[in-house]
Amino acid sequence: MRAAIVVASMRGTTAEVACRVAEAIADDVPVFDLVDGPPVVSAFDTVVLGTAIYRGQPMASMRRYAASTTDLVGKRIALFVCGMSRDPVTREAELAAAYPGALLDVAVARGFLGGRVQTTSLNALERLAVSGVAQASQDVDAIDDHAIGAFGAIVRASAMWASDATAAALEVTRTLGPQGARLVSEQRSAFDPSALGCSSDVNAASHTAGSLG
Ligand SMILES: Cc1cc2nc3c(=O)[nH]c(=O)nc-3n(C[C@H](O)[C@H](O)[C@H](O)COP(=O)(O)O)c2cc1C
Repeated sequence: MRAAIVVASMRGTTAEVACRVAEAIADDVPVFDLVDGPPVVSAFDTVVLGTAIYRGQPMASMRRYAASTTDLVGKRIALFVCGMSRDPVTREAELAAAYPGALLDVAVARGFLGGRVQTTSLNALERLAVSGVAQASQDVDAIDDHAIGAFGAIVRASAMWASDATAAALEVTRTLGPQGARLVSEQRSAFDPSALGCSSDVNAASHTAGSLG
């Protein structure tokens, strides 16, 4: 697998999360920030897109890139967003609003990886906007490292799946644990967790991990 990450971040948190995702996937996964313009990704078979969410919407640069580039056709795609929403329904809606349906449909992994807010650096209007999603009156670091680890493991496992399903099954169940097993069960792509011996039942997934190991 040759993976790269393309990220859109306003205040730096999503760029930092992208670096953590890169480490969770493999060594030497480059991170391209759209602030530097659209990257050339032809050398990569796996491309991860990540964007910050503001007022329910992705960064405009990611919206433009994801909607217009043809470079992603035929690649393994994984998608994440960074935000402070805690409600699962809102999170899902923000993820769904962030990327074109064609990418959401083929993504091997989709994740809401948390975020960070520094209220002291915001103006009154921004504070009002963020208080609606985060109930934060002070600085909050809610980067979800567990979800980042799970996201990286799913990307790795999906790359392994075609050639070695047993290794992929071990990767998913051993690395992710119960929460990861749930995340895997939520994937809606050709990466089929049941074919990996995983179950949406977290206890059964742990059992599978034990019996395979
Ligand atoms: C003005 C403002 C509006 C925001 N709106 C949302 C939102 O609608 N949903 C959400 O999940 N997070 C929201 N957030 C939280 C950001 O997504 C979070 O701070 C994220 O880490 C920012 O990433 P960045 O540092 O890469 O720009 C908002 C933050 C600010 C400051």
